[in-house]
Formats: sequence, C-alpha cells, structure tokens
Amino acid sequence: MLGEDFTQAAADFPDPFRLLIRESVASTNDEIQILAKAGAPEGLIVLTGSQTAGRGRRGAAWFSATDESLAFSILLRPEEPKALWPRLALAAGLAVAEGIEYFGVRAGIKWPNDVWIGDRKVAGILVEAGVDFAVVGIGLNVNTHHFPEGIREIATSLQMETAMEISRAEVLLAIIRRFSIRRGQIDADFPTLVQAVSTRCVLTGKLISLLTADGARRGIMDGISPNGELILKTTMGYERLIQADEIRLLNH
Ligand code: BTN
Repeated sequence: MLGEDFTQAAADFPDPFRLLIRESVASTNDEIQILAKAGAPEGLIVLTGSQTAGRGRRGAAWFSATDESLAFSILLRPEEPKALWPRLALAAGLAVAEGIEYFGVRAGIKWPNDVWIGDRKVAGILVEAGVDFAVVGIGLNVNTHHFPEGIREIATSLQMETAMEISRAEVLLAIIRRFSIRRGQIDADFPTLVQAVSTRCVLTGKLISLLTADGARRGIMDGISPNGELILKTTMGYERLIQADEIRLLNH
C-alpha cells in the first residue's frame, strides 16, 4: 500500500502528530475535514497514495502522481487567535522548504507558500479553516517522473532535480519535524518565521505582477513585512498585501 512503508516515519513523528493512511481519496483536505467535524484531535495527518480530485488554491485542480508524490493534510486546533491562522500557510511553506533542504536540495519560497526548486514549483499548500479547526494540505512532488501537459513546463520533483529516488516517508518525517516547530511561531515568534521565509523568498527584488481584490498591480517585490505581508513597490508608492493571486515573475 502506498508503494512504501510509512510505519517507521510515523513512529518518529513528534507529538501530537499521528498518521492515518488512506489508499485512495478524492482530496485529503476533504477527508480530514469530515474527521475534524467528527471530533478528530489536533495533529492528525491523513496521507494518501492516490488523490483523485486534489484541490489547489483558487479552485484549481492539483495533480498528484500516484505513489510517487506526497499528498497529505494536517489537522490543527490552534490556540492562537483565529486572525493569526492564515500565518499557518507561511509556517507550512517554510517547513516544506526546510524539509527539502534536509536532503541537500536548495528550496525557494514564492510568497506566500509555493515551494520552488530553481524556477519550478515542487510543492503547493492549501490551508482551509473550519469553526474550530484548521487544515493544512500539502502536495509535494517527490519521485514524480511525468507531469501532464499544462504543468510540465512549470513543475518539478525532487527526483527530477537530484536524479535520485527519495523516500517519501523520510521526506514526510522531515517536513513534520520542521512544521512542529514553525507552527508554534505564528504569534510571539512570528518575526523569526518571517525572517526564515524572507531569506528563501524567490520574488524579493524582482519585477512581478499580481492580482489584488482591488485589481491588477505591477511592481518590485520589496520584501515581507513583520506581519507577513508582501511589500510591493509600485510607481504609486509602497503597498502591503496580505493576499494576492496570480503572482508572476516578469522579465524571467
Ligand atoms: C496550490 O498550490 O494551489 C495548493 C495545492 C495543495 C495540494 C494539496 S495535496 C493534499 C491536499 N489535498 C488537496 O486536495 N489539496 C492539498
């Protein structure tokens, strides 16, 4: 099942993380939300070998290569105020980047939480909140050999970058270890988290375009604010954006 044994990795998870394996599901985010509403505890992780209707941000589909990639969701019941929960997205992106770096591969973060290797996306994160829980869904291309048309030009996998098969169980464990630290930094220690994201941000200093709720923008990405906002330098001045879509690097 899953093409690999995750038992040892799961046994090595820090508390309170626990692994629940599902051979095939539509979406691990949907699956874990059902469990969350039924009272499942903080730290539950639902991992699947085959995700048939994976969801990305903005309603996009997420492609996960069966038994080659990681598709999992983490259930959290944060004690921090709900206004801070969006910061979990930054914590998760950073944890994934750090988990990848554990294998000697340099990872970048495209704010807020796409993880890149070189100029290609290797992982995506979808954070969704319920009344009393948050779900962090992570998709990471580990040993993916082949991407469908449309994403082939923009996606990569750890295997493609290193020319080595890497244990998905070990990658999962490395990410959970980092996440157990970073998820605790969304309140008082947030500057530490922002600093670590900033040093990896692939957009900094670059000309970018993006969409805000108020319309399209174009400017130089000037860094990440102490609150985790993207700072954009435009011809009109500086703007701080807590949320933006379709961020594109120009002149790239
Ligand atoms: C994105 O980059 O748009 C986010 C992609 C998130 C994909 C993961 S895979 C596990 C979890 N289940 C889902 O349906 N989506 C997330």
